[in-house]
Amino acid sequence: MKGKVLSALRSADGYVSGQELCEEFGVSRTAIWKVINQLKSEGYSIEAVPNKGYHITGFPDVVSASEISSRLNTKWAGRTVKYFETIDSTNEYAKKMADEGAGHGLLVVADEQESGKGRRGRVWSSPKGKMVAMTLLLRPCMRPEKASMITLVMGLAVARACKRAAGLDVQIKWPNDIVINGKKLCGILTEMGAEMNEIHYLVIGTGINVNIEEFPEELSDMATSLLAELGKRVSRAQLIQYCLEEFEKCYDIFMETQDMTGLMEEYNSLLVNREREVCVMEPGNEYRGTARGINKEGELLIETEDGSIKEVYAGEVSVRGIYGYV
Ligand code: BTN
Repeated sequence: MKGKVLSALRSADGYVSGQELCEEFGVSRTAIWKVINQLKSEGYSIEAVPNKGYHITGFPDVVSASEISSRLNTKWAGRTVKYFETIDSTNEYAKKMADEGAGHGLLVVADEQESGKGRRGRVWSSPKGKMVAMTLLLRPCMRPEKASMITLVMGLAVARACKRAAGLDVQIKWPNDIVINGKKLCGILTEMGAEMNEIHYLVIGTGINVNIEEFPEELSDMATSLLAELGKRVSRAQLIQYCLEEFEKCYDIFMETQDMTGLMEEYNSLLVNREREVCVMEPGNEYRGTARGINKEGELLIETEDGSIKEVYAGEVSVRGIYGYV
């Protein structure tokens, strides 16, 4: 209800009368008045003028369930939103919900994570009010070995969303980072509940550095934020909206073939490591080569010194530039 009222106020050109809202949602004036007061207490500026109605004039940078629901135009992605002011990790919560039977498209969002998880057991810092920290639950009918491609699909969606929300041309560092000017802007951690032949669920956790002013010295050469690149703040809710809308479109294309056929060209055009010399680090094996782009299975093609092409599967592998992160 709160999300619906917010959506009606947002899309109105000027004032919306209390009566119109009552009729549209089939509730009393008091119920509408209560929702308006709740929204005000969450930081929205709403003018109430007798005989005219309500007019929304200011939006706080919140990522609450009602804020996100009031924006979304998706068919299934994020149609149910679970929001937390503080949580340990949105991925951990989404996995719990998946075990309890939550459905395809559930979105878990937090304003702050206390134990955000990165890849390879690393910690992912998620300070309050400055990041996008979200996890999308999927239940695809697909073989488990295809799951790692979903990270690439989300990467593409985030890149498109950054362009829409901030006008920035970001790049993708295969398999799970979004970078800009050689620094990391976003990381994606996909986890799976599966049996040999069947995926029970996937959770795709996405962390985007949005309005972070400054990074600790040890990270400042490697990490950046939209604020740092753009010089102005970006609405986190709008970024989430665009990520989900773009993800849904990309996912539909992906599921037609269950591979990257329909997305490969765009993905490769955004690949930061393309035609660059990289160092591939697999458990117990490290080698150099030139990254040539992904194939339709989402594997990174590396041309080694002897001219042969290796297909690198996005499992426990890390690909770095030979002089640093990119
Ligand atoms: C990485 O680059 O190592 C992946 C980082 C993934 C971070 C996100 S933030 C939302 C979700 N919840 C987590 O605990 N991790 C992911």
